[in-house]
Amino acid sequence: MNPKPFVKWAGGKRQLVQELLKHSPKKFNNYFEPFFGGGALFFELSSKDLIKQAFLNDFNEELITAYKVIKENPIDLIKELSKSKYKCDEKTFYSIRDETPIEPIKATARFIYLNKTAFNGLYRVNSKGKFNVPFGKYKNPKILDKENLLAVSKALQKDELTSTDFEKALTKAKKGDFVYFDPPYAPLNKSSFTTYTKNNFTKEDQVRLRNKAIELHKKGCFVMISNSYVDFILDLYSNKNIFTINTVHANRMINCKADKRGKIKEVIITNY
Ligand SMILES: C[S@@+](CC[C@H](N)C(=O)[O-])C[C@H]1O[C@@H](n2cnc3c(N)ncnc32)[C@H](O)[C@@H]1O
Repeated sequence: MNPKPFVKWAGGKRQLVQELLKHSPKKFNNYFEPFFGGGALFFELSSKDLIKQAFLNDFNEELITAYKVIKENPIDLIKELSKSKYKCDEKTFYSIRDETPIEPIKATARFIYLNKTAFNGLYRVNSKGKFNVPFGKYKNPKILDKENLLAVSKALQKDELTSTDFEKALTKAKKGDFVYFDPPYAPLNKSSFTTYTKNNFTKEDQVRLRNKAIELHKKGCFVMISNSYVDFILDLYSNKNIFTINTVHANRMINCKADKRGKIKEVIITNY
């Protein structure tokens, strides 16, 4: 079985994965994904046997702990998730949400349980770092997908997993390596940038990312970047000697209400 993302993740790239594949280099050495999230492109490339070694990183520590547990200890994780305690009803949901397991296998089982049962599969924590998404009222979510956890574990065996800022996650990138950046997107509405809190990805972070992309370009890396189609991003990557901007269309939630979905323009930027 081919591995697929084991979490639903905001900004997940499953629907754009064929476009991303089309724009990926045909041959490369190592693979770097510093904003890993659900890792849709990584799993697609793995299924096609295109990954030699991957360096996968995300700021979200709970997510990276989960990947490490799946990589190193999938059987014990499956045993934990098989317990009758992980059932999908409102009372169980709030009681598991209130737990704070420290032991990595239990913490990962909780993380997966909440991802499958919380509203929209959202991940959101309050100022104290506590997960605070309400119950999703799904009828019969697949909380334990044994085959996929084993396939994900297999795909991760040669790979390095870290949880730090994206720049630090790229120190080992060399000529011929492929770096795919899928950062939190620049907002469609300009003023949203100013309302960002300290944990969010600011304008300065977007500039830092562009500068890193230029540095990697000079090293001889293949660089691909996803972002929203907004003037700020088009200006940031306007140097045609380095970057090519490709436009794609994605179905996104453009309103808080799920029925207000629409096609919006996004960019896939490459340096090759
Ligand atoms: C758009 S999502 C990636 C989605 C992913 N490509 C997928 O298919 O699911 C962006 C990710 O960047 C992470 N992130 C935010 N700021 C970061 C930073 N400064 N360094 C590294 N990761 C960061 C977030 O935790 C989030 O998982």
